[in-house]
Amino acid sequence: MRDVELKAIFDHHIAQKYLTRSGISHAIAVAYHSFHLAKKHSVPVDLAAKAGLLHDIGHFTWYKNGKWDYEMYKKYDIHPIKGAERAHKLLIRLGENPASAKVISHAILFHTDSFLPTNTIVRTPLQEIVKKADEMDEEEGGLHHYRTISNERARKSLERLDHMIDIELNGG
Ligand SMILES: [Fe+2]
Repeated sequence: MRDVELKAIFDHHIAQKYLTRSGISHAIAVAYHSFHLAKKHSVPVDLAAKAGLLHDIGHFTWYKNGKWDYEMYKKYDIHPIKGAERAHKLLIRLGENPASAKVISHAILFHTDSFLPTNTIVRTPLQEIVKKADEMDEEEGGLHHYRTISNERARKSLERLDHMIDIELNGG
């Protein structure tokens, strides 16, 4: 039995606020990709799916005169740092195992190196998986952040993924 399921994360108002900001559809797609890659590489699927779902919750709104300012975003963005912290707080509040919360938080911190002065990170397999999963769902011009999905469909697909994780954890 897991301490926290994806559905419980999704239903929390903090997750709702930040998942909506960066795109629920993208978050769910990355959670699915992370699950499949983790399964393939024998990495814990539960941790991968959670890190995938929450990887972008650190985004700030870089608006200038009502429009997204991509230049400012590129220069000043630190969303992996904020995301790692937000995800950690949220997971601990929901009752996540503290060791798991730390590993998930690290996977979010290292899912991209766009915020670092150098790209010399040596990633763990889980961190590598979340990075790859994010890249698999990327669309040109950041369009993956704008795809929409109804809340009801989002919950259903997370319920399905929760079920797939339970099957894996119970020995397939
Ligand atoms: Fe992303």
